[in-house]
This record gives sequence, C-alpha cells and structure tokens, in this order.
Amino acid sequence: MAVVAVTSPLPGAGLDRLAAAHEVRRHPRGSPLEPGELAEFAADADALVTLLLDRVDASVFAACTRLKVVANVAVGVNNVDLEAARKAGVWVTNTPDVLTEATADLTMALLLAVTRRLVEGDRVVRAGRFTGWRPDYMLGAGLQGRVLGIVGLGRIGRAVARRALAFGMTVNAHDPAPPPEAGVAVTTFAELDALLPTVDFLTLHCPLLPSTRRLIDARRLALLPRGAYLVNASRGEVVDETALVAALERGHLAGAALDVYEREPEVHPALLGRDDVVLAPHLGSATRETRAAMADLAIDNVLAVLAGRRPPAPVVEPGNRGPGTGDRDGAD
Ligand code: DGY
Repeated sequence: MAVVAVTSPLPGAGLDRLAAAHEVRRHPRGSPLEPGELAEFAADADALVTLLLDRVDASVFAACTRLKVVANVAVGVNNVDLEAARKAGVWVTNTPDVLTEATADLTMALLLAVTRRLVEGDRVVRAGRFTGWRPDYMLGAGLQGRVLGIVGLGRIGRAVARRALAFGMTVNAHDPAPPPEAGVAVTTFAELDALLPTVDFLTLHCPLLPSTRRLIDARRLALLPRGAYLVNASRGEVVDETALVAALERGHLAGAALDVYEREPEVHPALLGRDDVVLAPHLGSATRETRAAMADLAIDNVLAVLAGRRPPAPVVEPGNRGPGTGDRDGAD
C-alpha cells in the first residue's frame, strides 16, 4: 500500500477510489502550499496530488525521495519544476482534454461580457440607476464580422476558434509550434507581432513558460489596434498587468476580461475600479462535471504510476527528455 499525499479535497469519487487501494493523507489546511510545507507533508509519500497554486520546486523533489509521481489537478503545470522532476526521475501528470470545452465556453462568456458591458450593466441595474431603454445607451461592440486573434492553438485555443467561427467571426492565430492540422478555418501568423495589428479582440491560450511570461507587454499591447479588447483565461503572468492598466487608462484598449492574474489571487488595484474590465475568479474549468473529471483523471494518473503503468496524461516521463502530451496546452 503506497502513501498518497493530497494537498486539498477534490470533487467526485476519485479520492474514494484512491483510498480503496492506498493510504491517502490529506493536508490539514490545504492548497496553496509553499515548497517547505509540501516537502514536509510529502516527505515519505509515493505520490503527491497538487493544485495549481501549490509550488512544487526542486527542494520538494530533493526532500521527497520516495516520490514516483506528482499529479497536478490542472492542465497547466507551471507550478511544478519539470526539470527537477526529470532529474529526480519522477512522473509529472496533468489533466488535459477534460477541461477544454468548459474553458472555451468561459472564454466566450468573458468576451461577450466585456464587449456587451454585461457586468457593468448588472451593476447599474442593481444600483437602481437604470432609467429606461435609449437608442444610445450602454453601447458595446458586436462580434459578427470582427476578427478574433488567438495566441496558442492547443486544444483550448482551437475550441475557442470553433466557437468564434460559429459567431460569424474571422479567426487569426499565432502559435510558435502550430499543430499540423488545426481542424478549424484559422489564418495562422508565424510572428505574434504580425498577428496583433490584425485583430479586434485578442484571447490568450498559451501555457506559462519562460518564453510566454509577460508575452503581452507594453510594446505588444501598443501593436493592437486602438479600441481592441483583451481576454485572458490562460495564466496571469502571460500579461504585464501594469502595462495593461496603462493601455486601458490611455484608452488604447476598449476593455479587458480576465480570469487569471499576475499575482493571483491578488488583483492589480487599478483594475478593480474600472467599468471596462471584467474580472472572474479563475473559473475557466469551473463546471461541476469538468472539475470532477479533472479530479478523476488526476487519480487515474496516480493509480497507473503506482501500478507500474504509464499514466494517461504524462507531462514528464522519467527517462524521457521530450515533452509529454500535456506540455503545450497548459492554459486555464
Ligand atoms: C488549469 O487546469 O490549468 C486551470 O487553470 C484550472 O482550470
């Protein structure tokens, strides 16, 4: 019987399946856990189940010498030091696919909410400031016939593209390593800088990597046409939030809809008071079905490794230098 350290309660029946075969240890406080806390918690564990705010760095791999697998309950694995896992010979797994459609839905919800001023309108109604329909009242931007720019054509980016096409939009995209068959009618741009001036709305679906940290900075925001909107449901650190605030303040951007934050769960104070910004609390995958499916897949990953089998969603495979199946999607 192996010891499985689980940082937080999980939805669905996955943990019961795990407990039927192994000793499950739950952290008394739960996620987010810092490396020191994780190292202590999982010191003698064979498997560690983490959430996206738990920081699994090299010190955790050094301290937890029995560890065979870190199963992250997320598609993004930016909270895990993958190189340290490789060196330590530990599997890292994630939860791709099961959250693709939910995250793409939420992206469209954010796009619609910010362009049609839905949250701002809700505040007006609740404050008793709605005085009746007028032809020029609270006008926003329509989606039909406009151009959506997508950064990252992984599963989520492609699922967003399918939805945008159904809304009558044109889709332009950039991905440094586009899939051979996108399966959707998108025009791809080899350079991100060439994509930006062509779009009305930009949505981000790339993983957080050293190369994508602050990918959308002041210079790139200035390459967007005046009046463009930004949607981010990937990782907060992909956007330079201070530069975003400045672009909104000078009216270069018409609005932004964010599900993730640079210093999550903190939000840049200047964003909080703005009506042209929609702020969601990292809800990309937050449907009951999706979260249960993510937990199930994470547990399947653990059970497979502990049984000596290849897990269904490997990101780091001990002994293999290449990326696993989940490495490139990585977004919200
Ligand atoms: C992920 O899976 O990476 C998400 O951000 C959680 O929805």
